[in-house]
Amino acid sequence: MGSDDHGAGLRSDRWFVPDDLRSMGHRSRMLQMGYDEADFLGKPVIAIVNTWSDTNPCHSHFKQRVEDVKRGVLQAGGFPIELPGLALSESQLKPTSMLYRNMLAMETEEMLRAHPVDGAVLMGGCDKTTPALILGAISAGYPMIFLPAGPMLRGNYKGQALGSGSDAWKYWDERRAGTIGEAEWKDVEGGIARSYGHCMTFGTASTMTAIAEAMGLTLPGATSIPAADAAHIRMSTQTGRRAVEMVREGLTPDRIVTRAAIDNALVVAMATGCSTNAVVHLLAMARRAGIPLCLDDFDRASRTTPVLANIRPSGKTYLMEDFYFAGGLCALMAQLTDRLALNAMTVSGRTLGETLEGAEIHNTDVIRPIDNPIYHEGSLAVLRGNIAPDGAVIKPSACLPRLLVHRGPALVFDSYPEMKAVIDRDDLDVTADTVLILRNAGPQGGPGMPEWGMLPIPRKLLRQGVRDMLRLSDARMSGTSYGACVLHLAPEAHVGGPLALVRTGDIIAVDVPNRRLDMLVDEAELAARRARWVAPPPRYERGYGKLYITHVTQADKGCDFDFLETGFGGKVPEPEI
Ligand code: FES
Ligand code: MG
Repeated sequence: MGSDDHGAGLRSDRWFVPDDLRSMGHRSRMLQMGYDEADFLGKPVIAIVNTWSDTNPCHSHFKQRVEDVKRGVLQAGGFPIELPGLALSESQLKPTSMLYRNMLAMETEEMLRAHPVDGAVLMGGCDKTTPALILGAISAGYPMIFLPAGPMLRGNYKGQALGSGSDAWKYWDERRAGTIGEAEWKDVEGGIARSYGHCMTFGTASTMTAIAEAMGLTLPGATSIPAADAAHIRMSTQTGRRAVEMVREGLTPDRIVTRAAIDNALVVAMATGCSTNAVVHLLAMARRAGIPLCLDDFDRASRTTPVLANIRPSGKTYLMEDFYFAGGLCALMAQLTDRLALNAMTVSGRTLGETLEGAEIHNTDVIRPIDNPIYHEGSLAVLRGNIAPDGAVIKPSACLPRLLVHRGPALVFDSYPEMKAVIDRDDLDVTADTVLILRNAGPQGGPGMPEWGMLPIPRKLLRQGVRDMLRLSDARMSGTSYGACVLHLAPEAHVGGPLALVRTGDIIAVDVPNRRLDMLVDEAELAARRARWVAPPPRYERGYGKLYITHVTQADKGCDFDFLETGFGGKVPEPEI
């Protein structure tokens, strides 16, 4: 082997260069795959973490796209290796993909560390894949760049655009109300997901890829490109090329994921009318980078950032394809330059400010200029009170305004099956003022905080024309959901949070302008209830579930595993031999 012609200081050199038995083993097994030394020796080895699988429709194109990334890596003089990661299909996993976000994060971190890797391209987009890949890659610490899957094409139903998730909920309510029948419902089913790519509303997927771009972790404009657009292929190749250059430049994530990058992500999340899931994921990502983000940072950002993206579910009409044609995320960020830290570094090697130069809006109804927002504030609000001392989250822009200050009697469900069994009964004791409560659906109780927080409106009320009511839970809700849903109540009921003490008939008071959420039950009564409260049995006694319930943090901390957080224990050593 020609040890003189390898590049200086590559991490992968430690595998391939030394004249010893172990390195001979590494090299000979590369030769076994048909590579010769000219392919890999002395070249930046780029891991492509590909979350493709036959169960993830949002990533179906990744089988082809990974070849486009490889082409870019080769063009720039690198050596690509594809490492498959858990695909985390939002639409297929039970009880919830959130249970496995941390598993993919661990897998990503450990795969990168254990392999001869100098840098990484992370291929994700379906909800949890984005934060999971980024969490793991932040902890691994090698140069990395995120490649977003891109949104799918607009849905279609009788010539009308259908939005992922949002229109499924909407038409399901119409079906339960009896205004559409089975044939119409089947048309919705066949038309709502027309191509590969992630959900094309501003749900969790678009929110998280926008956050990744705002944090400087994608090429400029990458997150807005529809999956089926040829520009997505070109962006994939560019991403591969750029990964090689990042290794040569030593552009590691600690130079990109700074407090400024996290603050930029907060502003952009709010301006897009973000999914409530942004809260748990951004908290976790910031804390992995050693940045002490908390719920109040979200509330502050929400109060001062107007919503500019007129995309469903926060907006009325448009979808991600429209957002792309209107100028995409760069055009939106260009409206916010006085709120963004423009000197933040990005994976492109340029500052955020430099990457936004020349970005402009092509349709001012889709992306609103700063002086004509769809809401002046209110993407998210953080509520606290005696039922959620560690906080809860609501999306005021998605609520019926009369419910923002509301008092009503609680109707409590201890589990989703219990709720599902009775919610459509004609004799259910419920009015439009009732506050529906679901508990034991948090990080440990769910388990994994399933997206059950948009509790269905009882059928009897749907028939009366009711389409929104106040709902409370320790669950999450889909980023494509809407309505007066107070979510992520912390601590959760399963671990004895005060949500466990509320009873049907108790009066619940919510006051969003004053950020309050209380049960109007006196202290002595609550103390008596607490004394009688019995902890439910643990959800798991073995396996990954046991690891999960033992180490997952509460929603206000980001639901990471405590032992994965930066600052827990000593630094993880590099493999020695
Ligand atoms: Fe994959 Fe919505 S199901 S992003
Ligand atoms: Mg979702």
